[in-house]
Amino acid sequence: MKPLKFLIVSGPTREPLDPVRFLSNYSTGTMGRYLADAASKRRHRVTWVRCPDDAETAIELLALLKKEAPKHDVFIMAAAVCDVRPEKISAVKLKKDGLRGIRLVKNPDILATLARSKKRGQVFIGFGLESEAILERGYQKLVGKGLELILLQRVIAKKLPFGETAVEAYLLSPDKRYRYFPSIRKPQIAELLVREAEALKKEA
Ligand code: CTP
Repeated sequence: MKPLKFLIVSGPTREPLDPVRFLSNYSTGTMGRYLADAASKRRHRVTWVRCPDDAETAIELLALLKKEAPKHDVFIMAAAVCDVRPEKISAVKLKKDGLRGIRLVKNPDILATLARSKKRGQVFIGFGLESEAILERGYQKLVGKGLELILLQRVIAKKLPFGETAVEAYLLSPDKRYRYFPSIRKPQIAELLVREAEALKKEA
């Protein structure tokens, strides 16, 4: 098939509290590396945005992706975006007593925001981490974020889906059809998503 333009986003965002501290999560960006490899092997053109190096905060990432998303056929959003940020970033190092009173505000939902200006034929794929009611909550995310596909992973304490671990996963589409993988590794997820994106582009 004709090469497609893939936009792949991975890794953790960070939200600074003061010059020396930030809020973040355990994401490693491994999924993004496998996705970029899988798409390149199939001769697609790949833009890989790596958080936090290319964009540190959710607001910076949204601004970057507003420019990038319209230039691509397929957008795969594997970044672990911090859902909240401190209301204010202190210019000076906070004393420990100041840390207890930090007020948090919600970050924008990047996928949902970008999907509102999705171009005809563009394919948006997201990831979802859930501990319970995976398919129900995953379906709400798929619809709420305006996606063509979502890869849902189960998160349970001591078995986090970060790095090289095999994960339990579901691949869910808007017609509620799904495929279940009791244990799947990230290189296989990457290949699966690239092939699914190709199939969706053929249909579009
Ligand atoms: N995502 C996003 N912008 C956010 C939060 C998440 O674009 N502010 C994207 C993630 O990159 C992922 C998908 O949305 O592809 C689902 O992320 P997840 O953390 O599972 O869900 P949330 O929407 O953050 O909801 P919750 O934390 O309540 O489960």
